[in-house]
Amino acid sequence: MHAEIGVIGGSGFYSFLDDVEEIEVPTPYGPPSDTIALTTVAGRRVAFLPRHGRDHRYPPHKIPYRANLWALRSLGVRQVIAPSAVGSLAPAYGPGTLAIPDQLIDRTSGRAQTYYDDGAVHLSFADPYCPRGRHTALEAARAAEWQPVDGGTLVVIEGPRFSTRAESRWYAAQGWTLVGMTGHPEAVLARELALCYIPACLVTDLDAGIEEGEGVTHEEVLRVFAQNVDRLRDLVIDIIGTLPADRDCPCPHALDGLEVPIELP
Ligand code: ADE
Repeated sequence: MHAEIGVIGGSGFYSFLDDVEEIEVPTPYGPPSDTIALTTVAGRRVAFLPRHGRDHRYPPHKIPYRANLWALRSLGVRQVIAPSAVGSLAPAYGPGTLAIPDQLIDRTSGRAQTYYDDGAVHLSFADPYCPRGRHTALEAARAAEWQPVDGGTLVVIEGPRFSTRAESRWYAAQGWTLVGMTGHPEAVLARELALCYIPACLVTDLDAGIEEGEGVTHEEVLRVFAQNVDRLRDLVIDIIGTLPADRDCPCPHALDGLEVPIELP
C-alpha cells in the first residue's frame, strides 16, 4: 500500500496501466474522487487517481481536491504529476499542444483551498509548480518530439461553463496563455502538503476569444483529449522514469518554519 509518485488523470484519462491494485483510501475530507490504482512504473511505485472519477461524476467545482491530495500523501506520495485538458488563449498553441505552465491565476470561487483553517499558515506560492518536475516533464516531452510550450500562465476558472468571448479576450489581454477548471486548488493543496506538483496541460481547443464559430464545446474537449490520451499516458510514463527521486527542489521545505495546526499523513 505504498506509492511515491501520484498521477491525477484529467478528463478522459481514466485508467493508467492494466496491472494495478485498486484500493479505497478514506480521508478526514471524505473519499477521494475514486479508488486509487497502485502499480509500478520504471521501478517506482505509482498511485493513479482519476480526477473526475472514472464515471466523470465530479464536475470541476465539485472535485474533492482536499481528499485527493490527502489520500495520495497518506500512501507515501511526494511527487504529483497532473495531466489536464485546457483551452488555449494564444492562437499559436492549437489543439494537441502540450504546455508546462509556470504560473497560475485563480479565478475560482468558493472552493475549499486550504487544509489550514485554524492558525495562521501563510505559505509561499510565488512559483506554484515544482521546478525540477517541470524541467523533467519538458525534457521528456522534447525527447518524445512533442515540442512542449515551456512556461506560460494557466488561468483557472470556476466553471463548469466555459468562458464568454469577452472573458476569454480579457484573459488573453493579460498575457495569460491557458485556461482550465481544475488547476486550482489542486496545486496549492499539493504545496500545503509539501508535495512536488507538476502540471502537464494538453490543449484541447482554442478558447472562445480566438475560436471562430460557436466557441468551445465539451464534446470537442473530450474528442481532442481522447485523440491524445495514449501519447499523454506515454509521456507520463517517461516523466515517471526520469523524475529524480531525491527531491532536490524547494517543495519538501514548503512548511519549514511554519506552525501547522494539523498532523499530516
Ligand atoms: N478545459 C479544456 N478546454 C477548456 C476551456 N476552453 N476553458 C476551460 N477549461 C477547459
